[in-house]
Amino acid sequence: MCGIVGYLGEQPAFPLIIKGLKRLEYRGYDSAGVAVIDTKGSLTHHRKKGKVDDLLAHVGDDVPTGHLGIGHTRWATHGPPNDVNAHPHLSGDGQLALIHNGIIENYHALKETLIARGHSFYSDTDTEVLVHLIAEVMKSSEELDLFEATRVALNEVVGAYAIAVVDIARPDELILARKSSPLVIGIGECEYFVASDATPIIEYTKNVVYLEDEEVARVSLSAGLKIRTIKNHRVTPVITELEMALESIEKGGYEHFMLKEIHEQPKSIADCLRGRLRLGHGTIRMAGIDDHESMWTEAKRLIIVACGTSWHAGLVAEYMFEDFVRIPVEVEYASEFRYRNPVLGEGDILIAISQSGETADTLAAIRMAKERGAHVFGICNVVGSSISRESDSGAYTHAGPEIGVASTKAFTAQLTVLALVAMRVGQLRGTMDPQQLNRLMVGLDGVPEKVEALLKKESDFKAIAEAYKAAPNALFLGRGYNFPVALEGALKLKEISYIHAEGYPAAEMKHGPIALIDENMPVFIVATQDAHYEKVLSNIQEVKARGGKIIAVVTAGDTEVARMADHTIEVLPAQDALVPILSTIPFQLLSYHIAVMLDRNVDQPRNLAKSVTVE
Ligand code: M6R
Repeated sequence: MCGIVGYLGEQPAFPLIIKGLKRLEYRGYDSAGVAVIDTKGSLTHHRKKGKVDDLLAHVGDDVPTGHLGIGHTRWATHGPPNDVNAHPHLSGDGQLALIHNGIIENYHALKETLIARGHSFYSDTDTEVLVHLIAEVMKSSEELDLFEATRVALNEVVGAYAIAVVDIARPDELILARKSSPLVIGIGECEYFVASDATPIIEYTKNVVYLEDEEVARVSLSAGLKIRTIKNHRVTPVITELEMALESIEKGGYEHFMLKEIHEQPKSIADCLRGRLRLGHGTIRMAGIDDHESMWTEAKRLIIVACGTSWHAGLVAEYMFEDFVRIPVEVEYASEFRYRNPVLGEGDILIAISQSGETADTLAAIRMAKERGAHVFGICNVVGSSISRESDSGAYTHAGPEIGVASTKAFTAQLTVLALVAMRVGQLRGTMDPQQLNRLMVGLDGVPEKVEALLKKESDFKAIAEAYKAAPNALFLGRGYNFPVALEGALKLKEISYIHAEGYPAAEMKHGPIALIDENMPVFIVATQDAHYEKVLSNIQEVKARGGKIIAVVTAGDTEVARMADHTIEVLPAQDALVPILSTIPFQLLSYHIAVMLDRNVDQPRNLAKSVTVE
């Protein structure tokens, strides 16, 4: 949550920072601000409640000049979203400006100490405490410059931070630090870019340095990049080359990123399969598994941790691993798991699933699992993200940047990677016979084309969306592999349309939710021809008997459900384990169109952020 951007170089900083903030707005969008220092050492500072465009309107023609600047787009934690709590925050004497992504957990104790030393505060934020703390350390010893003072001050801090700090006395220097929140430094020709992820940097340079936990960096036009740990050990920067393409982070003619990302799914699934699915050889190649073969063949148990949509992918994987590998599997919310005292150790493999690779709870869960001796296998979309770097091994989903807050193509890519992992492990452990494996491989190979066919039915989705856009509530049902699809369908609808929706295993309906059904209740149900088909037909009858409206996702050619349902959406036939990759797409598109019809902010729904880097 929160996006941070910084620039030091020869170009005017302000336009670069604004452009970068717009790229990072998916991380938080309740207020935004900038601070720019010009060569004469004067600081211009603007902050505004609302989006980056509101900040721009507020700045108007009074555009700050200068070649050093920092900017922030906020997702509020401490204090409501308003102008005063927006970043950057200034030290009491106005000499330092600081932006922050994360939470300073001991801010209250630090604040009390600073107040006792004469500091006063204007905001409710933990960030303001941090900038005062650095100023206090600088004041306490004239020997300490901003870099050293930041390093020393961070030793007092408990919590998560990615920060950028500037000092009006040093218009040639930008200080950065991180712990548990991401920070990337782009290295150009006589210029440096800083951001929470690489998207604001990619059009200027491909050379980046990912700052590690508890590292503090100084970038200076005269002295270059220097990194030390907060304990004062020297670190040699490692430059990585970015592989991301600029087009992948633009809308490409679509009205919203979410729609673009839904339509990218045939390609993102194919990208995820490329080089891994080796049909000609009758095998699957996944370096993250093959390089640790004995660990997978000897593993006693799998524990899957994730949040939100990624957790739903984990639930689908539970069915896959049980079917293909015959191994015990537990699927846990990372936020619960990290605070339990789980029985965990050597012989366990913890699979962490995360699109962003930065979700604070998932990161904490993998750290706990590593401490207890489990092997951590990370499934992430963002290359170079914290979870991908801290995992012992893993696999990228290769879905490309996902900007819309509602996860779509990352989810289907997660399902695809998880199918590949389960199939490969089943192959290695001998729990899948070659024919079964081959059939599934052929099935997976055909998925992108089936998704393509589904996406051509856009007008059908719009008509159904029109019919149910005014519903105050909705129920999503599914069984077996499609139970998590029901959960995901409900999450999609509620997060972007703000319609209350519940996802349930279809058979659980009669244990409570059936009381909600009347003629105003749309029931979205996956009724594909799988192992549970007959049972789902009975569940549809139960809904119809109570007047509920049925919108069913069915296998192409099905006439039985069509006789009972108010609307059907056909998906092409696929093996049970692969159906979720298809059956989830109608729910993505229905949610999208309902949200558009209700005039919601589809890409940046209220109160949400793409990357949840606070717990
Ligand atoms: O980046 P992650 O996959 O770790 O994110 C997990 C959730 O925050 C995320 O899936 C969230 O639920 C999305 N808004 C769902 O669309």
